[in-house]
Amino acid sequence: MATPIRAGRRIDASMPSVSDETSPRRVADSRVVLVQQMAPADANVLGSVHGGTIMKLVDTAAGLAASKHVRGPVVTVAMDEMSFLEPVLIDDVVTVKAAVNDVGRTSLEVGARVDAENYVTGRKVHVSSAYLVFVALDTAGRPRPVPPILAESEEERQRQREARLRREARLSRKRAIEEARRPGGDS
Ligand SMILES: CC(C)(COP(=O)(O)OP(=O)(O)OC[C@H]1O[C@@H](n2cnc3c(N)ncnc32)[C@H](O)[C@@H]1OP(=O)(O)O)[C@@H](O)C(=O)NCCC(=O)NCCS
Repeated sequence: MATPIRAGRRIDASMPSVSDETSPRRVADSRVVLVQQMAPADANVLGSVHGGTIMKLVDTAAGLAASKHVRGPVVTVAMDEMSFLEPVLIDDVVTVKAAVNDVGRTSLEVGARVDAENYVTGRKVHVSSAYLVFVALDTAGRPRPVPPILAESEEERQRQREARLRREARLSRKRAIEEARRPGGDS
């Protein structure tokens, strides 16, 4: 039987189920720590780790935190600029910590921090930090409302305030670009 496509998105038997739970959830309830040692297959032509490998780990950890918060599937809708402060080397143990900063109606922002450690040399470096936006999907693949977030500590409340500023900036940039794309939009 053909796989159904709803709202432009392919839905199949592997589509995860969605919880109806809408009660507020704590930041701690969905926090994720992903740890992986870098192998030769992760190398770029210079012999250090490919930036895309780190970006995929960030998307994976942050997406899992988002899925835990919404108790269902999410898709990545945006990733803010990501700078690499230090190279990651083969054999380094990379740790990605991800936590939900704030939620909108159907979207949520997750912050991720990447650190690398070499347990032989003792080198420990902060590699990168990034903010990602995910949208929760229902079983038909459409955006669905997400549960509220409970920011309990002052640090979590500060992250929530900053996430709201970034959300405003992202959406106003999106609106400005859409406006400029309309016929006669940049005149
Ligand atoms: C995510 C997606 C369903 C949103 O569709 P849409 O038509 O923009 O839907 P909406 O306008 O209802 O927006 C849904 C949410 O996304 C947010 N959003 C949309 N575009 C955004 C952007 N560029 N940056 C940040 N948030 C954005 C909206 O603010 C809204 O959040 P809110 O309900 O909390 O306010 C659609 O863009 C999509 O399917 N993108 C592809 C996602 C994907 O496949 N990712 C994996 C890439 S391989």
